[in-house]
Formats: sequence, C-alpha cells, structure tokens
Amino acid sequence: MVDLDWSNLSFSYRETAYNVRCTYKNGAWGELEIHSENTVNLSIAATCLHYGQEAFEGLKAFRCEDGKVRIFRMEDNARRMISSASYLKMAEPPVELFCNAVKKVIELNAEYIPPFESGASLYIRPVLIGSGAQVGVKPADEYQLIIFVTPVGPYFKNGNTGTMSAVIERGYDRAAPHGTGHIKAGGNYGASLTPGMLAHADGYDNALYLDPKEKKYVDECGAANFFGIKGNSYVTPASSSVLPSITNMTLCTLAEEMGLKVERRPIPVEELSEFSEAGACGTAAVVTAIGYIDDPETKTRYSYGDKPGPWCTRLYQAVVDIQHGRAEDRHGWNTVLDL
Ligand code: PLP
Ligand code: COI
Repeated sequence: MVDLDWSNLSFSYRETAYNVRCTYKNGAWGELEIHSENTVNLSIAATCLHYGQEAFEGLKAFRCEDGKVRIFRMEDNARRMISSASYLKMAEPPVELFCNAVKKVIELNAEYIPPFESGASLYIRPVLIGSGAQVGVKPADEYQLIIFVTPVGPYFKNGNTGTMSAVIERGYDRAAPHGTGHIKAGGNYGASLTPGMLAHADGYDNALYLDPKEKKYVDECGAANFFGIKGNSYVTPASSSVLPSITNMTLCTLAEEMGLKVERRPIPVEELSEFSEAGACGTAAVVTAIGYIDDPETKTRYSYGDKPGPWCTRLYQAVVDIQHGRAEDRHGWNTVLDL
C-alpha cells in the first residue's frame, strides 16, 4: 500500500499508478488499454474542446472489514453514462465495457484503496470525450472513454457530523428548462461555477437552484440532489433539469424500508419552511444535512438546526453500512472484488 495520511485525505485529485482507456473508432469500441501517464494527446479540433461533447461519472469503492473491496452501484453509473452519451450524440460505452474497465482500474490501483475505517474511499471518475476532429457543429466520429481513480476523504469539511448552508441563487441556472440538467455533461458544471463562487463569496457552502422555467420549485443543491423530511415523508424534487442521483435513488429505497413515505414531486420554495430536516445527497458526500437556506429575495431564512437531524443521520448510516459490507446488501448494489 502506498504511504498516505489516509485519515486526513481531502476530496482532491491525486495521481495514481494507472488509468484505463478505450477508443471508439470506425463504428466500434476497441480493446481496453492500460496507461500510466495522466495526460491525453488530442486533436486541437476534438469536439470535446469545442462543442461540449464531454460527460463524466463518479462512483466509489471501499476497502471493507472482511478484506474485500466493494464498488457501489456501478451498473447504474454505466447506464447514466449511456444516457449522457445518447443525449450528447456520443458513442455509448456498453454497460459491460464500462464495468470491466472500472474493475480493471481498481485492480491496477489496489495499493491506493484507502484502508478500512480510514473514512476515505477510492473515487472512480469515468470520462467520455469526443476525440475526433470537427469544425462544423456535429458529433465526432471518434470517442475516448477514460477511467481514472483517486483516493479521497470527505467532500465537505464538516463531513457528516456538521451541516452546511445554502443560498437560493435566483439569478442563475445550472441548466436550461429543456437542456442538459438530467445528464452529467461537463457543461452543466461550467455553468455552475459563477453561481457557486457567488454563494461562497457571500459566506455560503452551496448554491441552491430553483427550477429554471418558473423559478417556483427547488431543483438542486450545488452538485447534489435535494431532499426534505416532512412529517413521515421523504420529499425530493421531480424535475426534468435535475440529475437522477444514484445516492438519492438509494435513499428513496431505504427511506421506504424505514417506513417513510417517499414523495417525488415539485417542491414549492415556500414549502422549505415545512421541513423538519433538509439534506443534500450525492456520491461524494452521501448525505450532508443542511443547517439553513437563505432566500435573499424574500429575506427568509429556512433553518434546520446546526446538527444533522435523526433522519439525515439514520439514512447516511444505512448507506455507508451497505457500502462497507456491514449491513446486508439486499438489493445487490455492491460488486465485490477479492483484491
Ligand atoms: N446532482 C449533480 C448535479 C451532481 O453532479 C451529482 C453528482 O454526481 C449528484 C446530483 C449526485 O448524484 P450521485 O448520487 O449519482 O452521485
Ligand atoms: C457527487 O459525487 O455528489 C458530486 O457532486 C461529485 C462532484 C465532484 C461532481
């Protein structure tokens, strides 16, 4: 195992020994290649550089107490990458190719998988780019699927013991009403940088986006899905501009099993006052409780306390217990590797 301060890793890029790549050309995917360099050699006219033919994924693998390595919901990430590729008119990497590549890159970098109970994990980042040259606005005829890994610690500095703040950024959208919000296109993240920086400059951890069409409903919280707890319900936005979060799908299933009613529906901004807890969810942080949300336009603060509430805590724990092999994986979410 490489010598790293495993318990104090941040969520940042650290180079590892290998990455894997696969090229699509002449209408077919080639063989999986193993690379040790962390750079790409591209045509200056590649469509990913000009016309946004780029999508990515994010998933995690965990070293567990039984010595095995578990990858969480890999096939769901594969399917979401296919949906991103389809919308951006890129070659779609088959689920089997994607999954074999993920397993291979983990195996090759086994010495970078953080030890059990370090609180860290191996973050897996698949990237799909249009690498073929075009000058007219049209899809490339060549694509590259590149998958790298990097060991990471918690996404937010308070981890899952604290809360974060958010501010409603009414002047900005991360995606358009009938645009690309539902896929993991790099362009969405470019569009989120200005509102994200503004939220930070004003002292908030995150920007909260409203639905881009009517600005009446809650959409997403930074690069994470939003949920609220109201009475005995887990409420999360139904919106065509929100990324279908795999963590959120997981939480919906677990919430239902815990006896909560799951409501996927538009959430009017004013309803934020009716939640006992609010949270943001995604692969990087799993669940981060929201302490308060400010709406500068109406000068309203929606407060949920400065500690994660009971449901945020219980849901978070249920997910990480499955990911670490401590709880039974009743839905077959984990791929188990003997490494
Ligand atoms: N929403 C956005 C915009 C994201 O970038 C992410 C991160 O992947 C999520 C939600 C959470 O999705 P997942 O739970 O699949 O990681
Ligand atoms: C997530 O995993 O929840 C993210 O939002 C990842 C982010 C670094 C794009």
